[in-house]
Amino acid sequence: MLLGVNIDHVATLRQARYALLPDSPNAEPSPLQAALDAAEAGADSITIHVRGDRRHMQDRDAFELREQCPLPLNLEMGVSDGMLALALELKPEFVCLVPESREEVTTEGGLDVLSRLDEVKACVDRLRTAGIRVSLFIDPDVGQVEAAAETGGEMIELHTGCFANALGDERSAEIERLIDAARCGAGMELQVNAGHGINYGNLPALFEVPHLAELNIGHAIVSRAMRVGMGEAVREMKTAMAQYPG
Ligand code: PXP
Repeated sequence: MLLGVNIDHVATLRQARYALLPDSPNAEPSPLQAALDAAEAGADSITIHVRGDRRHMQDRDAFELREQCPLPLNLEMGVSDGMLALALELKPEFVCLVPESREEVTTEGGLDVLSRLDEVKACVDRLRTAGIRVSLFIDPDVGQVEAAAETGGEMIELHTGCFANALGDERSAEIERLIDAARCGAGMELQVNAGHGINYGNLPALFEVPHLAELNIGHAIVSRAMRVGMGEAVREMKTAMAQYPG
């Protein structure tokens, strides 16, 4: 199972102080340096979400990473003409299409592919024509998995936020939803990834879910990095993920 390290929150910390001073030589911490440290420690890809409001990652970060980080880049983006233009210029290896609303603190809920099928399909077509592999971030719902397959995207990323926040019986129910969605995705020959809210504590519970090819993990790794450094935080996660039976 591969690890995509989401470094958005390195940029969150920088923006908290330097949003209005983007050219300051003091601007820190550096998302690029975090990515290079993650790469050296064995991360398999770097994920960034360039949001419409540019609250953390800036376009400049995306291009710097593209040019200077050796790992594949996964750009998370909303389905919009502006983001599509950025993606076509940036040409990351992967794009993950996510829902986006300004009010949310972080991505809440998966992309409703079922109700936006034509719009999402058109976006997937443009990206794939440019040679970019496309993933759809969806709730673990069989209807959404089937719709994702119809768009022509090659991958789904199952939203694990509800799983991460659930306790006891509710967590078991969330695991069952993830298992069903993962089986459905694999049955439709989609690569099945997962992400959101995964941390060092809840990771083992996810091992019941079959067919997982890649996990995208951000907040927990960046938080752990504050204590042990990015390299060690990534190594610890990779070591824990090596127990996945699939
Ligand atoms: N995957 C997607 C599509 C996301 O939007 C996010 C959050 O930006 C993540 C994974 C990572 O979530 P977390 O920061 O909770 O690990």
